[in-house]
Order: sequence, then C-alpha cells, then structure tokens
Amino acid sequence: MREVKIAPSILSADLRCLAREVEAVARAGADWIHVDVMDGHFVPNLTFGMPIVAALRRITSLPLDVHLMIEAPERYLEAFARAGADRLIVHVEACPHLHRVIQGIRGLGLRAGVALNPATPLSVLEEILPDVDQVLIMTVNPGFGGQAFIERMREKVRRARRMIDALDRPIELEVDGGVGPENASDLVEAGATVLVAGASIFEAPDGAEAALRRLRQAVE
Ligand code: DX5
Ligand code: ZN
Repeated sequence: MREVKIAPSILSADLRCLAREVEAVARAGADWIHVDVMDGHFVPNLTFGMPIVAALRRITSLPLDVHLMIEAPERYLEAFARAGADRLIVHVEACPHLHRVIQGIRGLGLRAGVALNPATPLSVLEEILPDVDQVLIMTVNPGFGGQAFIERMREKVRRARRMIDALDRPIELEVDGGVGPENASDLVEAGATVLVAGASIFEAPDGAEAALRRLRQAVE
C-alpha cells in the first residue's frame, strides 16, 4: 500500500486563531498544510496570498502545499518561494506556457504540481507528466470549501493513477474537494496519495484533531 498523506486546507480553519488550528492538526499527524490562494479571476472567490504563507512558515515546519487558483501564476512564483512555500501547484487551465511555469517552480528549488478542474481531461497531462512532482485532481469546482464531492472524479483518479504508474516516477496524486472519512478509503484505493480536506477537518463538531485522526483511520 502507498503511503497516504493528509493535507488539511486552512481555508476552512478559524483564521482568528490560525496558529492554534495548525498546531492542532500537526499534533494529530497532518503531513502537509494546504493553502488555497484565489484571485477572484480564475475562480469566483478571493482568499489569501504571500503574507499568510509567510505567517504559516513561522508557525509550522510542515511542508506548505500552496494551491494557486490564480491567472498567470508565473508572476508570483518567486514571491511564494520567498514566503516559504515548499510545493507550488498551478492550474493547467491558467497556464498556456505550462512547461515554462513548471520549470520556473523547479528552478526555485520547489516541488511543482499541476491541478486539473473537474471538466479538464487527463489528456492535458500527456506532455507534462514527466516534469511534475504532483498532480492534483479537483474533485469539486475550485473556489469554495465545503462543497460536495463529484462522484465521477473517483474514476478520473483511477485513470490518473494508471498514467503515473506507467511512468515509474514518484509523482504524488492529490485529491482536493469534498474529501472526508466517508470517501477517503475509496480514493486511496483508486490511487490517491494525498488527501486535501478542509471542511471535514476544521468544521467537525468534535474538533480538528479528532477529525484528522478519523480521516487517518479511514485510510489505514
Ligand atoms: C477548493 C479548494 C480546496 C478546499 C477544499 O477550491 O481548492 O482546497 O479548501 O475544501 P473542502 O475539503 O471543504 O471541500
Ligand atoms: Zn486546494
């Protein structure tokens, strides 16, 4: 069985006490912290940018998995690297010169990921897969936390897994959107190695720590 990483998305955290929220999930065994950057253009929502990444960098030593839901992300790669991001994920839909952007991320010494919206076919990966460290399959339409998982995406994850296995390179396969203890084990079985979870962790009635442990149990 592949090692499964859990990456809580701070989009759903209580931002009044971000440090406490991050410490809670770290204590419960979070592997990465997922940071959703939105620009109000690529997606119909605005969230946060470099200052929050820099603040997180001071709070935690966990890898910061920065998901750029922004147009022309090449404008900000260096700034996010300086702020302390470890992994930068760009959307294929936002990058006409995807190869250049991926090389740019790697040139900064960071891990490079590509994200695909639900309606984007996996065939866009064909020429870029050998150059990436990570593929993120959106299992909701990006823009908001707390949306319902799109069931059909499980099959897409399975097909993405086959593409990755054919390459025989260590590429993480991440799922993002509507992930919780009820669907996590199916997603891992389909081939996911990184589970992003926002609402199911930070909005759990019994708290983030218990929720994260539940998610871990679901995939063990
Ligand atoms: C959505 C973001 C997700 C979001 C997931 O656009 O990319 O990372 O925070 O949140 P949940 O787990 O609540 O669907
Ligand atoms: Zn995300």
